[in-house]
Amino acid sequence: MANDILLGKSQLTGSRTPEVFLHAKYGNRHGMIAGATGTGKSVSLMVMAEGFSKLGVPVFLADVKGDLAGMAQAAVVNDKLKPRLDKLGITDYTPSANPVIFWDIYGKLGHPVRATVSEMGPTLLARLLELNDVQSGVLEVVFKAADDQGWLLLDLKDLRALLNHAADKDNAKELSAKYGLISPTSIAAIQRSLLQLENAGGDVFFGEPALDLADFMRQDMSGRGVVNILAADQLILKPMLYSTFLLWLLSELFEKLPEVGDLDVPKLVFFFDEAHLLFDDCPPALQKRVEQVVRLIRSKGVGVYFCSQNPDDAPDVILGQLGNRVQHALRAFTPRDQKAVNAAAQTFAPNPAVGDITQVITQLGVGEALVSTLQEGGVPLPVERALIVPPTCRIGTITDAERATIRSRSPVGGKYDTAVDRESAFEILTQRTDATIARPAPGDANGGAAQAPAQGPMSGWGKTISDVLLGSGRRQGMIETMAKSAIRSGGSRLGTALVRGVLGSLLKK
Ligand SMILES: Nc1ncnc2c1ncn2[C@@H]1O[C@H](COP(=O)(O)OP(=O)(O)OP(=O)(O)O)[C@@H](O)[C@H]1O
Ligand SMILES: [Mg+2]
Repeated sequence: MANDILLGKSQLTGSRTPEVFLHAKYGNRHGMIAGATGTGKSVSLMVMAEGFSKLGVPVFLADVKGDLAGMAQAAVVNDKLKPRLDKLGITDYTPSANPVIFWDIYGKLGHPVRATVSEMGPTLLARLLELNDVQSGVLEVVFKAADDQGWLLLDLKDLRALLNHAADKDNAKELSAKYGLISPTSIAAIQRSLLQLENAGGDVFFGEPALDLADFMRQDMSGRGVVNILAADQLILKPMLYSTFLLWLLSELFEKLPEVGDLDVPKLVFFFDEAHLLFDDCPPALQKRVEQVVRLIRSKGVGVYFCSQNPDDAPDVILGQLGNRVQHALRAFTPRDQKAVNAAAQTFAPNPAVGDITQVITQLGVGEALVSTLQEGGVPLPVERALIVPPTCRIGTITDAERATIRSRSPVGGKYDTAVDRESAFEILTQRTDATIARPAPGDANGGAAQAPAQGPMSGWGKTISDVLLGSGRRQGMIETMAKSAIRSGGSRLGTALVRGVLGSLLKK
């Protein structure tokens, strides 16, 4: 088949499939890389990611240990690499760097990745804030109220202002009458969780400029797919933020990308390291939606690969959808280990040449794996024992200087490196409390609203109406925002109901 990614070579004499390929055509049928620590998972992930990139497919990966950053540099053939190349019989090895864009929610090791509160939506936000059902319901209500009023929820400041607004006795009464009961206890609980999220550094993630998914889906000048590496070393310490962020990304992609059917190569491939974090403490309803998104995103040309120590870290329904598998060595010290080994073995179609799979799994060397990928017609390859090829990039970390150079050459730095804080719920509600109502000058369409807060003394709802009727910078700001929101949400929800994350909208269906 065309568009093959060489993963490894069988070391068994007389093997039917001496070379094991991942076929890009089936790259959207998802996959799994599993194995005990130090067995070669990250390197296998790099081989796949690099392979896709060379075929022009952009990839996204979360770098938990910093050792995937080496993808930005070319390998050096040394004493460690040479014997493996010889053993594999590779004579045309050409070290090469990948076109990497570094991202970092905290903005330190890469461009900041941001989303607006509105885009995240109440459902995912409730998960992030670890709210109970009642509190989640209240959050839904305040979101709805903000939508109806046309107040933009961009950053956590906006959300805080909104909650303060709803906590006011009179406002609460009005909102409760219109949308259902808002109890002060629930509002207080949400405010406390919000404070915790802010203190944990979660606030940096919310705001603008928000991530434009198109920037994840770039190719470089030579047609190679961009390798997006998200620094996750700090993020992983906040499992809830990590998993919620990744779920948000996946759901955004699901919502924004069109159906494409079968393609020669995927449009984007996602690698989730420490995949178990996605499913730990995941409420059943949300887990169901994740399963649904993973299943459906395939037809949008997106492949999702889970990387984990235990192959059974992902729920069975998801495991059943993973067509391409690379299983590195597992240890079998305890009964639980043995159970995992048995479970992993059962996912492979047997191959007499390989022998007893449960035994082989415990005997694999570093950088060696049991592999099964989808072949022509979507049929899984009978399990093959393969020595994994080395990537052409560096295995391991990079220096601060190397990172700085890559970052300075990035095509998207100018777009994301500086935060923007424009008028939204916080500004409107703050002005509303201390404003005296007066008519703003009509026709003040200066178009500068994207950065300037409303200048007129009139504020809040009255001002919004007056702006829409009479025209002002604020109006332009609003219209621009709505248009932007509409583009970001694929044109589906223009109007007062601003953008909402798909998991949120799906959950309501
Ligand atoms: N395909 C390969 N080619 C060359 N070297 C490899 C290969 N696979 C593994 N290695 C070597 O083994 C080391 C450990 O591999 P790797 O970092 O991928 O393990 P891991 O399973 O990701 O471990 P952890 O669970 O700790 O993240 C690598 O640093 C590299 O030196
Ligand atoms: Mg690793």
